[in-house]
Amino acid sequence: MDGKCMNGVASKYQNGNQTKPSTVIVREFEPEDEVHVQRIFCEGMMEMVFDTAFRGLRRHPESLLLYMTITAVGYVLTMCWWLIGLLPAVVLCSRYFYSRRIIHAYLDEAMNNDMGHIEEFYMQSLDSRLWVAVMDGQVVGVVAAVVQKAAGFAELRRMSVDRRCRRCGVGVALGLQVLQFAKTQGYATVVLGTTAYSPAAHRLYQRLGFHCCGVTNGYITDGATTSLLARMFYRVRHHHYRLEVKNMPFNLSSS
Ligand SMILES: CC(C)(COP(=O)(O)OP(=O)(O)OC[C@H]1O[C@@H](n2cnc3c(N)ncnc32)[C@H](O)[C@@H]1OP(=O)(O)O)[C@@H](O)C(=O)NCCC(=O)NCCS
Repeated sequence: MDGKCMNGVASKYQNGNQTKPSTVIVREFEPEDEVHVQRIFCEGMMEMVFDTAFRGLRRHPESLLLYMTITAVGYVLTMCWWLIGLLPAVVLCSRYFYSRRIIHAYLDEAMNNDMGHIEEFYMQSLDSRLWVAVMDGQVVGVVAAVVQKAAGFAELRRMSVDRRCRRCGVGVALGLQVLQFAKTQGYATVVLGTTAYSPAAHRLYQRLGFHCCGVTNGYITDGATTSLLARMFYRVRHHHYRLEVKNMPFNLSSS
């Protein structure tokens, strides 16, 4: 995207087998966007189920150690090889089950709060905003920002792009809109948190100029239960990202 864009970005866009230039427009949310915004947000979050259950396992040696210990104890107690052979499948199914359940609970919580009442939550005060990215007349992405006055920063939230329109610069265009908002509101710092395990989210934030300033291992996701089984099979890292707006690699005023 190379530093253009705030409201309009020339972008590469796959259309059948042809790549044609298209434009990403980032504009404020309008009530008729709600159903598209909710779909894109929910689909983006549901993609995390697979990543958390399987890709995330490699990042949690403590969970692997726990599963190996359970296997060893199971073997000592039962001496039953076929039972031990089944354990990895049981573990993977349990990880999938708990990831799905907790992400559903997270979505329910979001829909009962901000994402179910977007106009009221984001659009009625100057301290918060939600934007959509539009490509060829279709809503293809969403992002929101909320300023935390007491803490003195703006928070980027709810970033998600329709999977058919990824790698077209939509994420960057949305991110830049949040940085512009923070700057306009007089906030020097933008923060965000993510439990994503896919490289896409991390690379996008790094591309925007954010740096990771902390990781919480064993983060309790909103809506998650803290039962023993949930803690055994759903364990995530929460990455805290931060950007000083004055250090931005993009010149927002040129957009
Ligand atoms: C993360 C997400 C918003 C990125 O949106 P996007 O529109 O594809 O991002 P962009 O096209 O602006 O990409 C910007 C940069 O991010 C990086 N990136 C994006 N997708 C990537 C991928 N799949 N693999 C590696 N890097 C990726 C690249 O550096 C890319 O720049 P480049 O295309 O010039 O190499 C999108 O993948 C998404 O909605 N994912 C599901 C929901 C999610 O994870 N949200 C974030 C939760 S905090």
